[in-house]
Amino acid sequence: MYILVNLFVLFLFHSRTAAQNCSVLACSSSSSSIPIRFPFRLEGSQQPVSCGYPGFTLSCDDHGRTILRLPHSGEFFVRDINFLTQQILLHDPADCLPTRLLQLNLSDSPFLATYYENYTFLDCPMKLKSSAIGCLSNSTHTVLASSDESFVQAMATVCSVMVSRPIPISWPVQYNQDLSDYLNRDLQLSWSTPDCMDCEMKGGMCNFASKGSQNIGCFNIPATDRTSKGLLIFRIVCLTIALPAIMSSFGIGVFICCKDRRQGRNRANNPLQSIDLAAVIPQPSIVTVGLDESTIESFTKIVLGESLRLSGPNDNICPICLADYKPKEILRCIPECAHCFHAECIDEWLKISSMCPVCRNSPSPVPPNDT
Ligand SMILES: *[C@@H]1O[C@H](CO)[C@@H](O)[C@H](O)[C@H]1NC(C)=O
Ligand SMILES: *[C@@H]1O[C@H](CO)[C@@H](O)[C@H](O)[C@H]1NC(C)=O
Ligand SMILES: *[C@@H]1O[C@H](CO)[C@@H](O)[C@H](O)[C@H]1NC(C)=O
Ligand SMILES: *[C@@H]1O[C@H](CO)[C@@H](O)[C@H](O)[C@H]1NC(C)=O
Repeated sequence: MYILVNLFVLFLFHSRTAAQNCSVLACSSSSSSIPIRFPFRLEGSQQPVSCGYPGFTLSCDDHGRTILRLPHSGEFFVRDINFLTQQILLHDPADCLPTRLLQLNLSDSPFLATYYENYTFLDCPMKLKSSAIGCLSNSTHTVLASSDESFVQAMATVCSVMVSRPIPISWPVQYNQDLSDYLNRDLQLSWSTPDCMDCEMKGGMCNFASKGSQNIGCFNIPATDRTSKGLLIFRIVCLTIALPAIMSSFGIGVFICCKDRRQGRNRANNPLQSIDLAAVIPQPSIVTVGLDESTIESFTKIVLGESLRLSGPNDNICPICLADYKPKEILRCIPECAHCFHAECIDEWLKISSMCPVCRNSPSPVPPNDT
């Protein structure tokens, strides 16, 4: 087995040295690879056992994918780890997350599900295109899952109930009522112990306070000058306001998109055409409006030079993804407040919110070629 282990210099950039010799590792050399650092630790690597918190052991497969093994639920691929919000995004190696969710048992693991929702799985003796869990359906049977009782009752006249139980889900369900598609998305889990949020926010390195200790310490906190205080405040704002906002906008986005798709499909030959799915789904009450593509494109783009020097009130870290800027990366700055971000980060943001993620001012749309 060839385990591709690469030293991640990104996070060790300056003269940061932890209490212990815990280098940051990754399963592949690709820049999108997930950094493995405290509380996580890579099994069988040069990271000693004391570099990770119990229950946070990861491994790599032959293709450079990061694997998390949960004590009673088997292996999952790791899509992402957010050290700041203490969340991990998992997906099923066999691409059938709903079956994994049915069996998920998080006891003896440090991870918690964000939400639970009672889902009913229905087996329908026919081919349906809408709401189907593709990996459980075949040409003669369709498996559906719904958390909406009236939908389940309507369907139960034709379908049989397979199982009904609380399922761990990643986003609040009011935006995702009855969407089986939703269960096919990644599973988001969080952890509360060890609590490294404060340390991560200060830009420090979290680890055991001393050898053999179970207490957590924070090492190499950068000096808090004005700019990093600003960054700290921003990160708090991000945590308390922006993340829930993105999450709900994302939820609404998924909801609206899937609903449209499903309505489209329902026009096709569908024996259950008469059931108006939209009618049983409550409409989301929050509407977030982003900017259109041309407005976003009208904001200044810059290519970072070797000096990484940025004008205006900017640090050399992208406030959205929290990654350090690197030479030649493309940034986009918001005209009014001059806050800059990775173009790919801010573009996605502005599609769902018209506010600057740092100062929450709304950039006024540039009038389109006024004559
Ligand atoms: C830390 O790790 C590096 C490389 O793995 C090794 O060369 C060095 O001797 C270690 N230092 C200590 C203090 O263990
Ligand atoms: C999870 O697994 C543990 C150990 O096998 C067991 O004791 C517990 O009852 C399980 N929990 C659920 C909800 O199945
Ligand atoms: C799920 O159903 C059980 C009983 O059927 C109930 O006690 C529980 O509160 C429900 N959970 C949610 C999240 O609706
Ligand atoms: C489809 O799946 C059902 C169970 O969900 C099974 O009984 C049936 O044999 C399968 N049909 C085909 C053609 O694979």
